[in-house]
Amino acid sequence: MAATPIAPAAGRLGVLTPGLGAVSTTFIAGVEAIRLGLAEPIGSLTQLGTIRLGKRTEGRSPLIRDFVPLAGLEDLVFGAWDIFPDSAYESALKAGVLERSLIESLRPQLEKVLPLPAVFDQRFVKRLDGPHVKTRGTLRDKAEALKEDIRAFQRDSGADRLVMIWCASTETFLEPGPAHQSLAAFEKALSEDDPSIAPSMIYAYAALSLGIPYANGAPNLSADIPALEELALAQGSPISGKDFKTGQTLMKTILAPGFKARLIGLSGWFSTNILGNRDGEVLDDPESFKTKEESKLGVLDSILQPHLYPQLYGSLYHKVRINYYPPRGDNKEGWDNIDIFGWLGYPMQIKVDFLCRDSILAAPIVLDLALFLDMAKRAGMKGIQEWLSFYFKSPIHARGLYPEHDLFIQLMKLKNTLRHLRGEELITHLGLEYYD
Ligand SMILES: NC(=O)c1ccc[n+]([C@@H]2O[C@H](COP(=O)([O-])OP(=O)(O)OC[C@H]3O[C@@H](n4cnc5c(N)ncnc54)[C@H](O)[C@@H]3O)[C@@H](O)[C@H]2O)c1
Repeated sequence: MAATPIAPAAGRLGVLTPGLGAVSTTFIAGVEAIRLGLAEPIGSLTQLGTIRLGKRTEGRSPLIRDFVPLAGLEDLVFGAWDIFPDSAYESALKAGVLERSLIESLRPQLEKVLPLPAVFDQRFVKRLDGPHVKTRGTLRDKAEALKEDIRAFQRDSGADRLVMIWCASTETFLEPGPAHQSLAAFEKALSEDDPSIAPSMIYAYAALSLGIPYANGAPNLSADIPALEELALAQGSPISGKDFKTGQTLMKTILAPGFKARLIGLSGWFSTNILGNRDGEVLDDPESFKTKEESKLGVLDSILQPHLYPQLYGSLYHKVRINYYPPRGDNKEGWDNIDIFGWLGYPMQIKVDFLCRDSILAAPIVLDLALFLDMAKRAGMKGIQEWLSFYFKSPIHARGLYPEHDLFIQLMKLKNTLRHLRGEELITHLGLEYYD
């Protein structure tokens, strides 16, 4: 198999995040801390993961970052937009994810990351309002202003390449409408201030128009519409999303494939969360929660395939709740009550109480996505990157197909994509190795 040519990761990589809140500041502070040797990149596949090559007997398992040409952490520079003018230092303190002493030791680096004024519309994030926003002109003018921001950032930071990752608040639920169906319709809608164009779509439009890869860490539609897919293909930009797979949904996509593998039945799965960060506050609004709920509910159906296993999963009752509870801050607690049944239908229960830290789980995902999307761009990959489904609760997928949610199939697909790029044999774990 021939390797795919990949341009080298020379020079700096600018990581642009709409949203400079808990997740983005934890990501930026983390990269700075790792650069200074204060911490290890725990949770990052690009930094700590290995990849087996060839037969098991060959003993070849390089680090992923030695196997494919990824940007180094020392080459990353950061840019952001937010509706509040706080620097990454102030925002990290407010987010309350990291210890104050760590934030203080990174203060000079974090103070340099100042958000640009945001494109914002409170219709899409009802619980927030901030002063640091672009107010002039039509939506089209705002898209142009974002492009100008991006060009200026690139000039000032000396970044050779850029990626954009949406780390801003979850927008309210939106069904794809006529303005989203083609690039021409979308651009007309931008000029006419069409109310069905959400801010996250304008950021995605600006990035993709400049050929910049785009990922969406939240569940709102954003680039998951035909118009922006068309733009991504035309401009040679990779896109991926939606909704970082962390916390409770990560656990779900670890546990559910296990039940299914052993043909254990499920009659109910009740999931509830308490969290008290700004994200929790935004999700307290029913319309923002609906976007999240759709994203969280989808995973079980596609893993369990009730149409193929009606007696095991045909009458599963699945419920997800998020409760805003300020005392917990970013340290969420997620409870799952899982009602399962086994041989002869005998019922059993599993309780999971996950005392998790959302942004600690999300930060390495931002890093991996930035590095993989940048590599994808250099490898000439464009449009939807299904191999990055591993990182998302609602993976964007080819229209007409179902998304893959099983974490282990997702990982196999990701690693096989890397093997394919480097001209190595794919590993499906189905090989008849004993007969070689
Ligand atoms: N932490 C996780 O594990 C996790 C997992 C999946 C998805 N997410 C999603 O990631 C996003 C970020 O999470 P967070 O915990 O950092 O939230 P956060 O509330 O701390 O940060 C979001 C920031 O976005 C800003 N913002 C809102 N609208 C904006 C706009 N139009 N342009 C620019 N900035 C805007 C807000 O002012 C805020 O500072 C949320 O949508 C969340 O649902 C987080």
